[in-house]
Amino acid sequence: MDWLIHDYREDDLAAVVHLIDTTAELGQESVFSLAECIGALTSRQPAVVAVSQGTPIGAALAHLAGDRAWVMRIAIAPAWRGRGLASALLRELERRLVERRIRRIAYVLPEEELLGEGLRNAGYTRRPAVGYFEKAEPPTGPVANLLEELGGRLLPGDLWDKVAGMEAEKNLIERRVVRPLAEPERAARHGVRPPRAIALFGPPGTGKTTFARAVASRLGWPFVELLPSRLADQGNLAAALRTAFARIARLERVLVFIDEVEEIAPLRTEGAVGGMHGVTNELLKLIPGFREGEERLLVCATNSIRSLDPAFLRPGRFDYLIPIGTPDAAARAAIWSRYAATRTDVKLDVLVDASELFTPADIEHAARSAAQAAFERDLGDGTAPGPDSAGATTDDYRAAIAGCRPTVTPAMIEEFTADIGSHARV
Ligand SMILES: Nc1ncnc2c1ncn2[C@@H]1O[C@H](COP(=O)(O)OP(=O)(O)OP(=O)(O)O)[C@@H](O)[C@H]1O
Ligand SMILES: [Mg+2]
Repeated sequence: MDWLIHDYREDDLAAVVHLIDTTAELGQESVFSLAECIGALTSRQPAVVAVSQGTPIGAALAHLAGDRAWVMRIAIAPAWRGRGLASALLRELERRLVERRIRRIAYVLPEEELLGEGLRNAGYTRRPAVGYFEKAEPPTGPVANLLEELGGRLLPGDLWDKVAGMEAEKNLIERRVVRPLAEPERAARHGVRPPRAIALFGPPGTGKTTFARAVASRLGWPFVELLPSRLADQGNLAAALRTAFARIARLERVLVFIDEVEEIAPLRTEGAVGGMHGVTNELLKLIPGFREGEERLLVCATNSIRSLDPAFLRPGRFDYLIPIGTPDAAARAAIWSRYAATRTDVKLDVLVDASELFTPADIEHAARSAAQAAFERDLGDGTAPGPDSAGATTDDYRAAIAGCRPTVTPAMIEEFTADIGSHARV
């Protein structure tokens, strides 16, 4: 290699500015201005400089915004183009960014693509279109192994947007949980301490697991689900929990999910299932330690909040106890429209009204039976349906709804409403 790459130093400023300035006309322009680049350099944002025989020949600079870094500029002296210097600089820069716990690295660079005449006619001024390149930095090394041992992983980034409807719950979780964790400094300015543990309760199939995963996805944190059944395989459940939490403590950021938590922290009444006292006690002891860490959240879900040990749920341990009910009309409409999209003439409002108390899982089931009915009709009469008549009709859906036994009964709703009164903390 004919160059050395070092961290940017103050006395590189003039040379780097010269490089940025003189290469701008060579297809190396950037969406960041020279002034912005200088601003980043002088405020000690990460930057690297390549030197050959004492002369700076290339530079790459970034600036940090939260957990994302923007690569602002890669400038290469003309004589050094096409020799792999750009990727060498980028590699060095990325190494420094990863050290600073950056998870996403973004690079916006101009792209030669003409915009339509139509836009110009509509009064738009042409600016060079931008190509947006992004690279996720997956955890590597010991942390990745640790995550694997815990059965954890990073989830796709769009799960939050995929939660259909449930606006009230989404809003609440967004304001109370997601934002304080995502913007801890901003929260601290108002004296808000981000939550460390929340419980989601509600009837089966209403989306508790879905919400837990969506929060992890939204925060970009790894999702670790502790399955009591799997932990118990290792023999002593209390000891297995202790080991799991010790491993979790070594992760930089994590969302830990315990589903059906009533199984491991039931009421400690006389005659409670043998051996569970010890497990509940262990969990009670583990939560304070877990709460001391930053960038971590414990989410517990239960169908039966009333059968949980009250000591387990008290405020110092759980910040919020959030009810997740059956979807409201808007949520049902959003969920139905996801399944009933094959035909344009399906009357969504009819389905929404007919499916009160249906959970998302019930809707999915009814939609599937309706599609099956349409398919079987097609098989039966032998005539292939036209493109507009394929798929379930409103009547198919109505029949499927009528034939479906909702998971949640009125008695369960009554119980849930009472639980909201006695247990919810939002
Ligand atoms: N808001 C939603 N939009 C679309 N689909 C949803 C929504 N909520 C839940 N679902 C779907 O409904 C099904 C059940 O959801 P989920 O498993 O999250 O419920 P749960 O409350 O955890 O149930 P359980 O109490 O049985 O554990 C899943 O297939 C999920 O994808
Ligand atoms: Mg669940």
